[in-house]
Amino acid sequence: MLLPVIMAGGTGSRLWPMSRELYPKQFLRLHSTHSMLQETLLRLDDLNVREPVVICNEEHRFLVAEQLREIQKLSNNIILEPVGRNTAPAIALAALNAIKDSDDPIMLVLAADHVINNVEEFHNAIAKAIPFASADKLVTFGIVPTGAEIGYGYIQRGEHIGTNNEGYEVQCFVEKPNKETAEQYIASGDYYWNSGMFMFRAKKYLQELEKFRPDILEACEQALTSQPNSSDFISINKDIFSSCPDESIDYAVMEKTNDGMVVPLDAGWSDVGSWSALWEVNNKDNDDNAITGDVFLHNTNNCYINTDEKLIAAVGVENLVIVSTKDAVLVIDKTQVQDVKRVVEYLKANE
Ligand code: GDD
Ligand code: MG
Repeated sequence: MLLPVIMAGGTGSRLWPMSRELYPKQFLRLHSTHSMLQETLLRLDDLNVREPVVICNEEHRFLVAEQLREIQKLSNNIILEPVGRNTAPAIALAALNAIKDSDDPIMLVLAADHVINNVEEFHNAIAKAIPFASADKLVTFGIVPTGAEIGYGYIQRGEHIGTNNEGYEVQCFVEKPNKETAEQYIASGDYYWNSGMFMFRAKKYLQELEKFRPDILEACEQALTSQPNSSDFISINKDIFSSCPDESIDYAVMEKTNDGMVVPLDAGWSDVGSWSALWEVNNKDNDDNAITGDVFLHNTNNCYINTDEKLIAAVGVENLVIVSTKDAVLVIDKTQVQDVKRVVEYLKANE
């Protein structure tokens, strides 16, 4: 049975001011009445899976437990990172914990902050990936790219593989190339975006990590075993884990492994990496406005407007993102939403 591992430790700063360090985007109800973390878990209903593992920052333990309880998915497998060290160590902790009882489950590693509209297609891709993961491949799910975005990993597909050509060998995997390179990849037509979801055996991942980043593996092993664990959560030793290098699975393993392969995924996937991406996946009115909260509009179109308290009235504007929270208001052109990071940098510098 598959072991779902949900990575929920990111900060999601591109959705400021709603997404904050204390309340990052995976815990927000931005796309439906459920948070993205809850949606990620609910999307696994009807699949034959074990009790999911959620791995998140220690600070969010009660938030995570409460969100899991709300959807009747409370788990004894919540791993708490004392500090964020990115996804390679997070997945290593989950894999090490999974092999404890001489077990070697196939892990389905999922990000907690993605939107997937077509759950059936998602389940189909998972079913296709299982035989490859059983045979010690590291499976990624590839998205047909729609532009030369630089925030994604790019996978060049190689030969078709599988009894019914369910997947492709990975010719090469390049994490977050520069714009020029991304444009070349798009023009060539034989690249996928890495969805950031993976499937592999726990031991296979650990073997690859040992090959390419033994320093990360060692820090994770020690951090997991040096911590007495008696509570409802799985805790990690802070001093040791703090010394673990900060690295993503993409750089640490996926770019380097010879055993990668890709299963295409066409399921209305979005990683909701910006306010405009959220506008794209949300329901819209007849004037293409996506609205959440108390909003009055007149002669306004193509806007994303979200307010948690105050009334927002917008008249005669278009292509704007307007987001209002208790202590901040963001007004930004929908084509420039990546520059929210300038605001976050400014705030950090003036803390
Ligand atoms: N537990 C834990 N600990 N989770 C983490 C940590 C951490 O230290 N850092 C990030 N995560 C979680 C995030 O919450 C998110 O769900 C997922 O891991 C991926 O992290 P991101 O920081 O969002 O990665 P990215 O978007 O820059 O890049 C990845 O995803 C892209 C697709 O969305 C890569 O895998 C790219 O190759 C991929 O294209
Ligand atoms: Mg992401």
